[in-house]
Amino acid sequence: MASLMLFVAVLCQVLRIAGTAFFEVQYPSVVLSAEIGGNVTIRAGPDSGSIFLKSSTRGSIYIDGTDMMAIIEDPEGNTIQYDKISGAFPPGVVLNKDTGDISGVIPDIDAVYEFGIRATDNHGKHADQTFTILTREKNQCRAIPCKNGGSCIDDISDYSCNCPNAYGGKNCQLDCVNNAVGVDSGLMHIPDAQMSAHFSHADYAAWNGRLHGSGWVGEQVLNSWLQIDLGSVMRWFAVTMQGAVSSSFYTTAYTMTYSEDGDNFQTVKDAALNTLIFNGSTLYDVPTRTVLPVPLQARYVRFIPQTSATNPGMRVEVFACPQ
Ligand SMILES: *[C@@H]1O[C@H](CO)[C@@H](O)[C@H](O)[C@H]1NC(C)=O
Ligand SMILES: *[C@@H]1O[C@H](CO)[C@@H](O)[C@H](O)[C@H]1NC(C)=O
Repeated sequence: MASLMLFVAVLCQVLRIAGTAFFEVQYPSVVLSAEIGGNVTIRAGPDSGSIFLKSSTRGSIYIDGTDMMAIIEDPEGNTIQYDKISGAFPPGVVLNKDTGDISGVIPDIDAVYEFGIRATDNHGKHADQTFTILTREKNQCRAIPCKNGGSCIDDISDYSCNCPNAYGGKNCQLDCVNNAVGVDSGLMHIPDAQMSAHFSHADYAAWNGRLHGSGWVGEQVLNSWLQIDLGSVMRWFAVTMQGAVSSSFYTTAYTMTYSEDGDNFQTVKDAALNTLIFNGSTLYDVPTRTVLPVPLQARYVRFIPQTSATNPGMRVEVFACPQ
């Protein structure tokens, strides 16, 4: 709005010097500014927008240092036709040959457009002049899209958010410690092909190891594991596990390893740098949630049963944010 007021003030000054406007400028959702001497800057407004330069009957306005009236005034009052004879308008902007209107939607980019306009009367007399329109890329950060204290970085036709560590997503809208990647059988964002295991009991394959699903069951404690491929490296914050698949397939404690490349795995440690022992089931079907001491970078996470009732069973969910 400040720019708009500046524009109006300067335009009035130009008009006072120049007399009646030859061009009217309308600005539906476009911010305009002008400098004395006639340079006009058109900024893509909050919703981008349209710009119209409309001819009226008398007067002049300076655009890019040129008195439009001086080049296309026809003393005989005959009809004038307008043509673009060189250069380019901003994409989407067109000239009306009869009225001289230049109109269209301003592109959301920083750019300079130069073009030549010829005004021809019905005796074939003509005058040419070159004009310049500057467009300014819209600052998408003005709409304050980043939530939860994220800082906004404006970009061409876009923006990005630098999120505090505990938040993620395009707008930092995801609370990472509670953001399920979707192993859960009710979500299924992680496809079966991204679930694998080392040893699976008959009828309890890896892809059954979904929270609230039918369950994965390993063959032997310590040798078995269930692995979830998150699909890309993520910031990993927490896990939930239902440690029991049945009264005979029960995991009471487990450890975890993680990897970015699927080859080199590291063990999740506690604050004292000892292997973290995750709690499994104490009650059948009750999920147990563990928040990691610090968030870790991982694409592959492995659940490794440590203690179990007969064979180890698991149904899991992983909480993480995209990078
Ligand atoms: C108008 O724009 C031209 C080209 O960018 C520049 O050289 C000139 O100084 C500007 N005029 C004013 C009054 O700012
Ligand atoms: C496991 O459970 C015990 C007892 O409730 C608790 O003290 C411990 O912090 C839990 N371990 C983890 C890793 O959450």
